[in-house]
Amino acid sequence: MYKYQYQTPSRRGRSLEYHDTSLDVDCLSSMLTRKAQRLLFCMSVVAVFMLVVYIPLMIRHAHRSTTHSVCGSKADCDRRREIDRREAVRSKLMQQFDVKKFDIRENETDEIHLFTKKLWHFRRAEAERVYLYQRILTSEWTMNKRNLRRMSYELRNHSNIDAADFVISQTSSASNSTLDYYIFPKALVKTDSYYRYHMNDGLFGKLPEISPFREKLYDRCSVVGNSGILLDSQCGDDIDKSDFTFRCNIAPIAPFRKDAGSKSNLTTMNPSIFHKRFGELKTTQDMYDFLGNVTEYNGYIWLPCFAAYHLNEICLKAFHNFNISSPTAVLANPDHFVKILNFWRERNHTKLLSSGFYITHVALQMCKEVHLYGFWPFPVSVSEDKLKEQPCHYFNDEPFTRSHNMDDEFRLLFQMHQHGVLKMHVGKCGSDASKDRRKGSEEILEVPKDRTKSDALLRQEILSKT
Ligand SMILES: *[C@@H]1O[C@H](CO)[C@@H](O)[C@H](O)[C@H]1NC(C)=O
Ligand SMILES: *[C@@H]1O[C@H](CO)[C@@H](O)[C@H](O)[C@H]1NC(C)=O
Ligand SMILES: *[C@@H]1O[C@H](CO)[C@@H](O)[C@H](O)[C@H]1NC(C)=O
Ligand SMILES: *[C@@H]1O[C@H](CO)[C@@H](O)[C@H](O)[C@H]1NC(C)=O
Ligand SMILES: *[C@@H]1O[C@H](CO)[C@@H](O)[C@H](O)[C@H]1NC(C)=O
Ligand SMILES: *[C@@H]1O[C@H](CO)[C@@H](O)[C@H](O)[C@H]1NC(C)=O
Ligand SMILES: *[C@@H]1O[C@H](CO)[C@@H](O)[C@H](O)[C@H]1NC(C)=O
Repeated sequence: MYKYQYQTPSRRGRSLEYHDTSLDVDCLSSMLTRKAQRLLFCMSVVAVFMLVVYIPLMIRHAHRSTTHSVCGSKADCDRRREIDRREAVRSKLMQQFDVKKFDIRENETDEIHLFTKKLWHFRRAEAERVYLYQRILTSEWTMNKRNLRRMSYELRNHSNIDAADFVISQTSSASNSTLDYYIFPKALVKTDSYYRYHMNDGLFGKLPEISPFREKLYDRCSVVGNSGILLDSQCGDDIDKSDFTFRCNIAPIAPFRKDAGSKSNLTTMNPSIFHKRFGELKTTQDMYDFLGNVTEYNGYIWLPCFAAYHLNEICLKAFHNFNISSPTAVLANPDHFVKILNFWRERNHTKLLSSGFYITHVALQMCKEVHLYGFWPFPVSVSEDKLKEQPCHYFNDEPFTRSHNMDDEFRLLFQMHQHGVLKMHVGKCGSDASKDRRKGSEEILEVPKDRTKSDALLRQEILSKT
């Protein structure tokens, strides 16, 4: 037995020393010199190192560089990955919506007699749900003015805030007031400014004296959501029949006039869009692009600048630089949003409300008739007796954000449709409007005596007389 002591050279400044390690070199010792043994040992150490560390590393590196070369830069790879992810989500969803007509052996002369060919074969409850929703939503609808009044009253009585004050004005907030945020991202430092915005003279001076929506009551309003179901719906003319059109998140309209209409009177814009589409307004060109993009809309751009601390600065920058003559920028009133949020929280709908769902509540209090278009949280719809795949939005296929519960919101709106409070339009427009009926009621709800007679109550009265 030959004992040999050796040392490996230090690596990365950390000396790795092996002492008294036995090497069984009995059979070789007679043939090899000390030098050769040392060399052999070094070689075997290198071989082991190659095998355990270097080769796997190289393979990993090679793999990464081939995937890089397939998709190009890192940004390209990220985009590729995002597309793959969306594709995976879509195919999973499509499995949920697996639905077919009964597959009966074809015989053309028989076809006319085969009643069962009309029937659908639902393999999943989800598919059946979509089918039923659409069937119900496209059949006759009866407006129920009494229910609309009740809903409007309940909202008003709960929030004790006039719907017109969904925008901030010098009347709705004092020059020294604070506005409380309602979205709280976890990663930020929690100082006072994390929770609330302190109004200052600079901003206060730029607010309208009173809400531009005070004393306003519109006959027919449309709220246009952004669902892909609007594509090929031919709803444009229908939407343009409205006196007042609400739109969401500055969705493009000009190229989609036939399906999404062209009128717009108030368009919401989530401040996250400044990050996504306008380079966080860092340069004058970004500001120029932003202002250029919003000129597409008429009326008002509604900015929820007081949703969260981390969005506030950029959003107010946009507000202060809003120097175009039309549309006009107005700021969302976080108090009103939170009142509606709490209204539904008390009813166990706890997730953050989407802009479309929220603004529908404003419409319910400002309009005699509310029509919803493009509210459909499913990637499929039934079209001409066939199941049709559609993009998430009518203008792109980006998946819905997960911060809202679109499904729950849809369930609520669906029931409001059923109760004649509003009308949801899904599928093709045009033919179903003539079937609608309007049901009135002379009942006037008692209003609590301690509350001043505001324009909201005035609206109730006007509504009740129509
Ligand atoms: C279709 O049905 C008719 C009568 O039911 C029959 O005479 C004919 O052969 C059938 N054709 C085919 C292609 O099966
Ligand atoms: C209006 O609100 C008050 C106080 O929240 C409540 O006591 C009352 O029952 C409400 N009225 C209706 C008709 O809901
Ligand atoms: C705001 O100003 C009013 C008078 O202008 C005053 O009564 C009130 O106390 C002030 N509030 C705060 C929080 O400073
Ligand atoms: C709504 O906007 C359209 C143009 O998009 C305009 O013609 C109409 O007068 C506006 N309605 C109201 C009530 O401002
Ligand atoms: C409005 O703002 C943009 C961007 O900040 C600027 O380029 C433009 O000159 C301004 N227009 C007016 C009329 O002030
Ligand atoms: C709208 O914004 C995009 C950038 O997001 C810009 O490329 C485009 O030129 C803008 N359109 C107008 C009409 O300003
Ligand atoms: C809301 O949820 C709570 C707790 O989960 C439950 O106790 C309550 O009955 C629910 N209310 C309604 C209206 O569903």
